[in-house]
Amino acid sequence: VSAIDSAGLLQVLQRKRDGETLTDGELRQWFRAVVDGAVDDAQLGAFAMAVWLRGMTDAETRAMTLAMRDCGERMDWRQAGLDGPVLDKHSTGGVGDLTSLVLAPMVAACGGYMPMLSGRALGHTGGTLDKLAAIPGLLIEPDPRQLRRVVRDAGFALFPASSRVVPADRRLYEVRDRTATVDSIPLITASILAKKLAGGSQALALDVKCGNGANLPDARLTVPLARLLVETAASAGLRCTAWLSDMNQPLVADIGDSLEMRLALAYLRGDVLPSRLHALCMTLGCELLLLGGLAQDLEQAHERLERARSSGAAAERFMRMCRGLGGPADLLEDPARYLHPAPLRVALTATRSGTLASIDTRALGLAVQALRADAGPAGGLEAVAELGAQMESGTALAWIHARDTASLERVQPMLQRAFVIGDDAVAPPCLFHGAPLRGG
Ligand code: URA
Repeated sequence: VSAIDSAGLLQVLQRKRDGETLTDGELRQWFRAVVDGAVDDAQLGAFAMAVWLRGMTDAETRAMTLAMRDCGERMDWRQAGLDGPVLDKHSTGGVGDLTSLVLAPMVAACGGYMPMLSGRALGHTGGTLDKLAAIPGLLIEPDPRQLRRVVRDAGFALFPASSRVVPADRRLYEVRDRTATVDSIPLITASILAKKLAGGSQALALDVKCGNGANLPDARLTVPLARLLVETAASAGLRCTAWLSDMNQPLVADIGDSLEMRLALAYLRGDVLPSRLHALCMTLGCELLLLGGLAQDLEQAHERLERARSSGAAAERFMRMCRGLGGPADLLEDPARYLHPAPLRVALTATRSGTLASIDTRALGLAVQALRADAGPAGGLEAVAELGAQMESGTALAWIHARDTASLERVQPMLQRAFVIGDDAVAPPCLFHGAPLRGG
């Protein structure tokens, strides 16, 4: 890719600002300049905003995805001596969504390999890497040799886009978070698929969130996003299936880095079975086993995955990863020793009796990010009530984990507004919205 000068950079910005279609060559030069540092944060923010406002054609989004994929190294697992398929899963971002933390070791215990390029918190949604970083001592950014070793031994790893792999996404991701440009179909598509394509997997299960806690809350945009993701992946040679899953309430009742990590361990140990998390894991996991040729039919896939968790094999895989990256060897037996609660734990109570009719999931996510900014990984919400639950006045809608009273008081009003209690019975939403979309 030939270098682009400052006049060229300006021209790319002007053309996108005016709603024109950028060429493959322009996008490749642009992202090369992003990685080289020739594009500064102001320009990158302007680019993100222009794409947000003007959109992109499907072909342009595909070209942006490939340009981002190619501006860094691509991972090649063929040399790693793996004896099973390399598989991947990604979500468009949710609240209380710890699926990757448990699905990857479950699939690994069934013979698949899941080296997953993961993200930090984005907007109001949590980040898998932040949840993992709640484990003291665990190395979040292993070097390529360490990564290969852990993937070979544990069957999975969750690691960030680095200065080597999709380096452009790392910068663009941070800039989007600060410029109100997270919720853009082309930017989400390129961000997710550039990472997944560079990650070297053979098949991908996507979880496209719908509802008021999704990155794209406008329901009219969810299906187009899922379709573009599946078609862009297929056109780049990656087999992919996308599910539309509900995010009108958190996926699990405990939200926050440490709380979710504790729940993930409890689920892998077989102590708890949160119904929506379990259903999502089984659905995405079965698809991955089928795509990877690790099961002959759905029934067999279901049985293998269920056994991987209930036998403790998945938990054992998780601990291989944890130990392999320098985390505590007794994390599974004694999580409370490492995943500490916040100093303050206070109930948010219902102000009237009735049925929990709606939850502003985005507000919950924002409150958790605010609690986390003060209390670190310990900040969060525990035992959040479910849609359709019968509440008595004065009982807990959730327990707030905060650093101090000032922090608590900052989030209490927004949390109180986030829960709406009504008189009529409410049917909880279905976990899946319609049939999955398949491509490739
Ligand atoms: N996950 C990503 O990696 N990128 C996005 O833009 C949204 C979710």
